[in-house]
Amino acid sequence: MQEKQSIHGSWASRWIFILAATGSAVGLGNIWKFPYITGENGGGAFVLVYLICIAFVGIPIMIAEVYVGRRARQSPINALETVAEESGSSKSWGLIGLMGMLAGVFIFSFYSVVAGWVLQYIQLMASGALNGISAEEAGNTFNGLLGNPGTLLLWHTAFSIMVIFVVAAGVNAGIERATRVMMPALFVILLVLLGYAMSTDGFGQAWSFMFDFDFSKLSWDAVLVAMGHSFFTLSLGMGTIMAYGSYMPKKASIGSTVLSIAALDTIVALITGLAIFPIIFSNGMDPAAGPGLMFISLPVAFGQMAGGQFFGFLFFVLVGVAAWTSAISLMEPTVAHLVERFGWGRTKATVTLGVLVWALGIACLGSFNFMSDFHIFGKNTFDFLDYLTANIMLPLGGIFIAVFAAWAVKAKYAKEEIQVSDTAFALWRFVTRFIAPVAVAIVFVLNL
Ligand code: PFF
Ligand code: NA
Repeated sequence: MQEKQSIHGSWASRWIFILAATGSAVGLGNIWKFPYITGENGGGAFVLVYLICIAFVGIPIMIAEVYVGRRARQSPINALETVAEESGSSKSWGLIGLMGMLAGVFIFSFYSVVAGWVLQYIQLMASGALNGISAEEAGNTFNGLLGNPGTLLLWHTAFSIMVIFVVAAGVNAGIERATRVMMPALFVILLVLLGYAMSTDGFGQAWSFMFDFDFSKLSWDAVLVAMGHSFFTLSLGMGTIMAYGSYMPKKASIGSTVLSIAALDTIVALITGLAIFPIIFSNGMDPAAGPGLMFISLPVAFGQMAGGQFFGFLFFVLVGVAAWTSAISLMEPTVAHLVERFGWGRTKATVTLGVLVWALGIACLGSFNFMSDFHIFGKNTFDFLDYLTANIMLPLGGIFIAVFAAWAVKAKYAKEEIQVSDTAFALWRFVTRFIAPVAVAIVFVLNL
């Protein structure tokens, strides 16, 4: 019997799926966002809550997403509807996919702006402009960039085009092959940076900052940020992993595959933190400096290291690639949807979506300059979209996916698809039915 396949294609192997999903997961969330929100939220206790969320909320929900996608072999809205029908549940579960597509549009618009900063830093590194820079000069360089809408627009546009180009072509062997080389390379550079950071006298302080759990520093708001970040960093709650799951080969076990992806993502985040904070502390910088943390601290470190210009250049190139593979995945659910529902060509779908997210990105980059006085709920557009997606839309989407996969779907179908032992399945179902949705709901309520 011919196995059911997605009309958009399929990954060549389980390994390629892991690669693609890790490419989606590992991105600016790990390297840019994780260190700065850890810094803003006081360190250790925040990191612990984040790790607990990855284990008890993120992993079970990722399994649920891959399950739904692979079962139906369709883009999220259609997949949810198909899987719901199989168990005699309502087709309105498809609405989760709609919210996810909207979240993807919002995330892309600010993600591309930050990726644009990365592109600018590639160029600054290559030119040697940052060699031997002091912490203060590094701060001025970054703030100068934020105050310059023309430069921001240039890089935001360049990045959007890079993403549109790949998505339109289909996530082909090109990007897969690039990821296969780039991801290990990123890992190696992070280890080089970590080695440098360990040689500075701030390392001990950085270690205790990240791993000493002082719960008096933890607010409910910080818990919400940690939980929201566990969704953001694993690309969950908006259908991305569901879409990628729909291209996954039938033979592979969903359980062990998801564990590898989550582990890789977490390791990259922790190593990045351990590479960045020692530099912050040894140079007397502020760990709570916000979104500029990586762009201000790392150039200082590279400026002092032997071969720093080369490593710095390589580092920002790899961060750019990590951002690229993540941004590609942000578009995939919507592009696949437009192709499936409206019969559009892939290029038309990608360009239409691309222009929309690019335009919204202009409001995000304007947040630092010409639109800095424009506020929604007290936040500028950039911060608002970041907060709304990571802390509200993704967790909400995640709860619904969990409830859908563990309550609305018949257990025998889920078991058949997930392919894990009886005990592991029972554990997954218990956590996904009770722990994950309840934990997310409690954090929401306590934040009101
Ligand atoms: N997981 C990505 C990161 O950590 O940078 C961001 C992301 C990608 C979020 C794709 C959501 C998504 F669907
Ligand atoms: Na991530």
